Amino acid sequence: MALATVMMAAVACGPKQEIPKEEPQKEKTPKTLVIYYSQTSNTQAVAQEMATKLGADLEEIVPVELYDGDFEATIARGKKELDEGNYPEIQTLKANVADYDVVFIGYPIWFGTYAPPIFTFLEQVDLSGKKVVPFCTFGSGGLESSVKDLAKAEPKAEILPGYGVRAARLEAMAKEVDQFLKANGYIKGEYTQLEAFSEHHPVSEEEAAIFDAAVGDYPMIHAKATTVASRNLPDGKEYEFVAADMSRGDNPNMPPAGELKVYVSVIGDEAPVFTKVIR
Ligand SMILES: Cc1cc2nc3c(=O)[nH]c(=O)nc-3n(C[C@H](O)[C@H](O)[C@H](O)COP(=O)(O)O)c2cc1C
Repeated sequence: MALATVMMAAVACGPKQEIPKEEPQKEKTPKTLVIYYSQTSNTQAVAQEMATKLGADLEEIVPVELYDGDFEATIARGKKELDEGNYPEIQTLKANVADYDVVFIGYPIWFGTYAPPIFTFLEQVDLSGKKVVPFCTFGSGGLESSVKDLAKAEPKAEILPGYGVRAARLEAMAKEVDQFLKANGYIKGEYTQLEAFSEHHPVSEEEAAIFDAAVGDYPMIHAKATTVASRNLPDGKEYEFVAADMSRGDNPNMPPAGELKVYVSVIGDEAPVFTKVIR
């Protein structure tokens, strides 16, 4: 008892112990992977731009049996794979996707969704708990529909806003990617916060002419604008048209008829261009 009392006194009277100061919590930089499939290099260009700006690792998904360059053959093979749910084998990935916190997934839109090698990739990896940022290139659109499929395939991933660009507007991509990455907080820097669209109203003759000029004779859009909303851009104006699909005969390659949204930009005194279609 006496010994215990002495020891306690010794502890109490001993030199003051330095209490280590709590280290300020350093923000952990998320580990980011940009992974993509690209047949004709449009999506590759976006992936490279994203990875460079992010300073992220970059990996290409490569099918074991490449789709050959012929468009008709690719359509036939891709359609068969999608219809049968029989997706192509892909080469072993170099990256261990499990090691990453944020995964940017890039793809071309095929038949309104991501191309078949992405189905294979999603079957092979578990993105649960990860932040997933989709991006794509397309002829007319498909980001929104492909993201729905992505959310179904990876229900436990956090699917974040994505970026999509028409193949025909690839020259606008670098600037848009920069704005996209800044607006969503992946990189630092100033960006332009776009205003909301106005209310929709029936199209005027002038607005109908803008729609027709933007859509031109693009084969996949055969529609008549009914209502429109608009907003100012820093260097022009953007329109959100609602259009009704018009009869297109019995061409089996045409998407189903219905209502569509067509986004059109008019920059400076340039001709109107459509930026995407949502079906
Ligand atoms: C088999 C096939 C199906 C396609 N389907 C669509 C489609 O449904 N909607 C669309 O807007 N573009 C479609 N496209 C166009 C591609 O999405 C577009 O050319 C894309 O930029 C190609 O990307 P890549 O160069 O990375 O392969 C399709 C192209 C192919 C080859």
